[in-house]
Amino acid sequence: MAHVPVLLDEVLAAIRPREGGLYVDGTFGAGGYTRAVLGVEGARVLGIDRDPTARPAADAMKRAWPKQFAFAEGPFSLMEDVIERAGSSGVDGIMLDLGVSSMQIDEAERGFSFQKEGPLDMRMSRTGPSAADAVNHLSIEELTAVFRVYGEEKRARRAAQFIASAREDEPITTTLRLADIVSRAVGGKPGRVHPATRVFQALRILVNDELGELIRGLGAAERVLKPAGVLAVVTFHSLEDRIVKTFLRARAGLEGRGSRHAPDIQPGPAPSFSLLSKKAVEASEAEVDANPRARSARLRAAARTTNPAWPAEDSGLPGVPAYSRLLELTS
Ligand SMILES: C[S@@+](CC[C@H](N)C(=O)[O-])C[C@H]1O[C@@H](n2cnc3c(N)ncnc32)[C@H](O)[C@@H]1O
Repeated sequence: MAHVPVLLDEVLAAIRPREGGLYVDGTFGAGGYTRAVLGVEGARVLGIDRDPTARPAADAMKRAWPKQFAFAEGPFSLMEDVIERAGSSGVDGIMLDLGVSSMQIDEAERGFSFQKEGPLDMRMSRTGPSAADAVNHLSIEELTAVFRVYGEEKRARRAAQFIASAREDEPITTTLRLADIVSRAVGGKPGRVHPATRVFQALRILVNDELGELIRGLGAAERVLKPAGVLAVVTFHSLEDRIVKTFLRARAGLEGRGSRHAPDIQPGPAPSFSLLSKKAVEASEAEVDANPRARSARLRAAARTTNPAWPAEDSGLPGVPAYSRLLELTS
């Protein structure tokens, strides 16, 4: 299925691309956002995606807009390098549309879907440890933490225990075997959300270090946006949305920064962002009817001020466990 861009009009309304402006599409995918920005005469886009299968769509875009478009394969957290290599020092807008594309979900070989038989992979970049590495190597405690934190799965420990006992028979290497093990552990009522949904989400987030990428990407965006340049981020679950919300509200001077050691509210550095709207923008009923993927989408957008970017350690964002551990176990 071709990927239908979510909240496209709303993202464009936030970014307001103009002639001569340079924009980053940090999650190029099938290029839906990029195409819309390139539709504005004289606007330029740097597309980034860490999935090598985004390349053909990017090549087609390059043929259609040779002077206005360039593509880089890699994580958006490294957008500063991409912008520097393109010969620029700052950009006028950044779009991030998080998560996976319809193409990635649909292709059984990628292992993202609990409904299609495939290798237990889930790596967007096709490099590094896979979901199979995670379920076969992490301890029960580590798997429990991953399912609880990244999947918000209430029966996290039971799912981890069932996995640990199943892998003693033979390693778990396929999507449907994992879906079956987790379904038996977690249960669930027929007709409700599939019982393996949250564990699959958790493994995907872990394997792609999605929250770490997001936190680093927000910091990079803050450093490379020109004054008045807009950051627009579309998220698909509450963990991501909470990170974006906390980051932008803090940077807009709307959150105090007390700490365990200095519980009094400390004044932060001068605001580096100003929110375009206090509340997240959600998809209209018409969009959700036409594209069910839009149901959980939330857009948050903010414009860069002229104040300096905050030091990275001031982000006040939650710690992200387990990815470094997974790397350690499989290197
Ligand atoms: C929801 S799709 C984006 C769809 C795109 N807006 C469109 O209209 O076609 C997300 C894409 O972002 C990519 N992606 C996710 N996280 C990434 C990251 N940290 N760095 C680079 N690409 C990422 C995925 O590989 C996927 O292709």
